[in-house]
Amino acid sequence: MSGCFPQFERLDELLTKNVAFWQFMPFAFEQLVWEKSQPELCQWLMSLSDDVIECYIQDGKVLADELARWIPDAVELYELSHVTAYPIEDKVLPKGLDVGIPGRKWQQITAFNGAIPALQLPWLEWCAGKGHLGRVLAASHQMPVTSLEWQKTLCDEGDVAARQLNLPIRFIHGDAFSPESEQHICAEQHAVALHACGDLHVSLLQRVTAKQGKAVTISPCCYHLIRDKQYQPLSQIGKQSEMVLSKHDLRLPLQETVTAGERVRRQRFVEVSFRLGFDSLQRHLRSSNDYMPVPNVQKALLNDGFAAFCQWAAEKKGLSLHDGVDYDHWQSQGEQRFHFVDRMELVRQLFRRPLEMWLVYDRASYMEESGYRVSVGTFCDKPVTPRNILIHAQLNQKS
Ligand SMILES: C[S@@+](CC[C@H](N)C(=O)[O-])C[C@H]1O[C@@H](n2cnc3c(N)ncnc32)[C@H](O)[C@@H]1O
Repeated sequence: MSGCFPQFERLDELLTKNVAFWQFMPFAFEQLVWEKSQPELCQWLMSLSDDVIECYIQDGKVLADELARWIPDAVELYELSHVTAYPIEDKVLPKGLDVGIPGRKWQQITAFNGAIPALQLPWLEWCAGKGHLGRVLAASHQMPVTSLEWQKTLCDEGDVAARQLNLPIRFIHGDAFSPESEQHICAEQHAVALHACGDLHVSLLQRVTAKQGKAVTISPCCYHLIRDKQYQPLSQIGKQSEMVLSKHDLRLPLQETVTAGERVRRQRFVEVSFRLGFDSLQRHLRSSNDYMPVPNVQKALLNDGFAAFCQWAAEKKGLSLHDGVDYDHWQSQGEQRFHFVDRMELVRQLFRRPLEMWLVYDRASYMEESGYRVSVGTFCDKPVTPRNILIHAQLNQKS
């Protein structure tokens, strides 16, 4: 079956076919997971320096070309995840509207506003925060805005800002999931959600279709913030997919590796290698092969060294450590595993955007199946926000 997003079906095929390269938890393994199945890939990965890994992370095309030696679908996956950019209309805004809005947020909002069509409908801003977007919509379209937000303080702050600017915005302090919130969704409306997490934007799409709302525009984020244990696909292709996505899988698109400075890199090395070293130690002590997650740690504790970290972690997990533990040995195990994890993550990097696009097309196809004309594209460049995809759906006219 194919909708107006033929890439979706192909992405589904290729992601399913290649699950062995991305659908696993790298930190749960004590060696490269493809040691037996792909020895040459492992050899290549282990030959890479940290700086070379950094270069591949920055250039997805070069990474796909290299990985194609072992993952023949790599280049196609890379190409399938490409989407065109929406044309951005430069809408004139009154002065002073950006006061109190951080620079990058302002760029996101003005780009979002510039990418969506002016339909002369009242707006519904879903999970509005302080209503930064709502103010821009109200000011540039001269239409009233209803802003729904869960945190009372944000509603109050948004309300004050809207009054100061004399804009027609009404804040509703409410829970987007509650049945009462449904009353704010109606047919003669253009609903928007900028970075409403996981189920919050999904529930908006479902309610808009139920009410036959005229238009909805979202920029999805935090795909893993769902109430079910696993992802519940929305569209026909999604429902027929063989993939079952856990919350861990749904985090993959969000794991953008940001180029970090030397100090941050060093800190990450210490913390992650300590955790992995403790994990190897606990496996040895418990004669078990299961990964044991350890809670967040106060960064200052890391300065006390690996042994202190293990004693803290053991206490948290109710394990007792005997006197003769060879901490140097387990620390170096952790350091070796750190290098394995980074190299497994490099391969998973190839699948980040394709999996995100699969999730985006699942939403877009669902809207299309529900009688909407749908477009998908980027509304800003990745440095402005890595969650830069916009889905716009407009109800088809009944003939
Ligand atoms: C990532 S922020 C985005 C805010 C705003 N749209 C923006 O882009 O600046 C998500 C917002 O959703 C709100 N939120 C979380 N759960 C909610 C719920 N159940 N009902 C309504 N709003 C909720 C949060 O309080 C937060 O303000």
